[in-house]
Amino acid sequence: MSDGAPWWRDAVIYQVYIRSFADADGDGIGDIAGIRGKLPYLADLGVDALWINPWYVSPQADAGYDVADYRAIEPAYGSVADAEKLIVDAHEHGLRLIPDIVPNHTSDQHAWFRAALAAEPGSRERDRYVFRDGRGPDGAEPPNNWRSHFGGPAWTRIDEGPGQPAQWYLHLFDPRQPDLNWAHPDVAAEFEAVLRFWFDRGVDGFRIDVAHGLVKDPDLPDLTDASDQLGRTYPPGGHPYVDRDGVLDIYASWRRVADEYPGDRMFVAEAWTPAPERLARYVGPGLLHTAFNFDYLLAPWDPAALRETIDVTTGHLREVGASATWVLSNHDVVRHPSRYGRPPRVREDTVTYALDDPPDLALGTRRARAALLLEAALPGGMYVYQGEELGLPEVEDIPDEARQDPTWQRSGYTVRGRDGARVPLPWSDDGTSTGFSPAGAAAPWLPQPEGWARYAAARQQGDPGSVLELYRTVLHLRREHPALGEGDLAWVSAPGDEVLHLRREPGFACVANLSGAPVELPAHDEVLLTSAPLEEDGRLGSDAAAWLTVR
Ligand code: GLC
Repeated sequence: MSDGAPWWRDAVIYQVYIRSFADADGDGIGDIAGIRGKLPYLADLGVDALWINPWYVSPQADAGYDVADYRAIEPAYGSVADAEKLIVDAHEHGLRLIPDIVPNHTSDQHAWFRAALAAEPGSRERDRYVFRDGRGPDGAEPPNNWRSHFGGPAWTRIDEGPGQPAQWYLHLFDPRQPDLNWAHPDVAAEFEAVLRFWFDRGVDGFRIDVAHGLVKDPDLPDLTDASDQLGRTYPPGGHPYVDRDGVLDIYASWRRVADEYPGDRMFVAEAWTPAPERLARYVGPGLLHTAFNFDYLLAPWDPAALRETIDVTTGHLREVGASATWVLSNHDVVRHPSRYGRPPRVREDTVTYALDDPPDLALGTRRARAALLLEAALPGGMYVYQGEELGLPEVEDIPDEARQDPTWQRSGYTVRGRDGARVPLPWSDDGTSTGFSPAGAAAPWLPQPEGWARYAAARQQGDPGSVLELYRTVLHLRREHPALGEGDLAWVSAPGDEVLHLRREPGFACVANLSGAPVELPAHDEVLLTSAPLEEDGRLGSDAAAWLTVR
């Protein structure tokens, strides 16, 4: 790792999906005390920081991404005092802490939205959200053709009482997640105050939810293609709500807030942009520090696709002096051992889960192990989604009646959604809910599948062939090796080669074999690590990767 650079430029950040991480109080829901109890595990794993999914008071219509109060903690998770203790404890374990902030929308139970419903059309209260009259006779049609990401129209009509032509409000997600109007000065002021509230309590940064979506075209025009929710069919910045230039003004102000605080506070943007050069605009001096690199996550296990996204990403970011982030899984996508255990699909399928054939999990896991070595060898920072270090696959057989993701209901029960990536973690063979909860606890909020204990952390601990021990070894080596983390990479393999071979200086090489047949290792001094045992003749097997010291 490089000396002197801000920590976030090459940090390994572990994503804690709080509801499913560890349940200390026995209600079947993960909590802050549960996280505190696992800090030694996380420090030992070798991560540098924790990103915690929304922990604020919320009716949980979208697992906490519907925030009713940004200055208070969801009671099922604990209290602000618990959060403060966690921040202090995490720092004592050498771990930084980054909560999620959700600025695009609030819960419909937020005091502002309740006030908006109670106020008149045209009032200041209504204007903090996006209320409009409907179209057609009696305003019975939605104001435009925008669609919710979870299915159905992006508008819901309210009940104004007798005699009033009821208005509609905008929600790009669930109806219980009304979009804020970022053109209203109260909104910007409130979020800066919320950032300060948590910075004052010692958080090291924020993950910004839906960072590309805050600014809408004030005319709210119909989409020319109502299915284009990512701006692919528009000129750059031209989509009415994706990646409009105005969002950068918001983040310039947020950056000024972060810079008032000591100690390298940082932001990471969840920004879905139509092209990587647009993503590079969010980061750099005076703006955000980092952004998730979803192109890498969405790339199939294919040498040309991986190499291209690595080159394009590092190229654009180098121009603005920003560091890359590498991500393989998160709470919104199919876990990568399951993705890599299927033939490559088109991008959208990765997220929306239109996957019918069962995955080949042995193959997917072998690839996931190799993918870790490749990812951790790349310049920049990386994210580890909880359970990825246990090799968890997507849970594909959650009973439909147990599903919680609003996508399932909003899509008219056609898209099963993201619950399969959110199943509570298995910690031990024998504990309640495989150690997720204490003895006597309620059933977990999402059911664990049969056989979940085979992935339990306790079972993998100390087993040199386990995914957990591979993660631990990789993350510790990455932290210690002077070539890894920040810096440049040089390809040794040619474009089009099915064996990816890259060098980092001083004296490090990573080889990932995606060729379908064993290959000779290139000249090296020492094999530091392999993702799978070498073949008997010393060759590197298919779907395996190696770290080498080289001259
Ligand atoms: C982000 C979150 C996702 C959530 C959505 C709405 O994409 O990652 O989980 O549903 O925003 O807040």
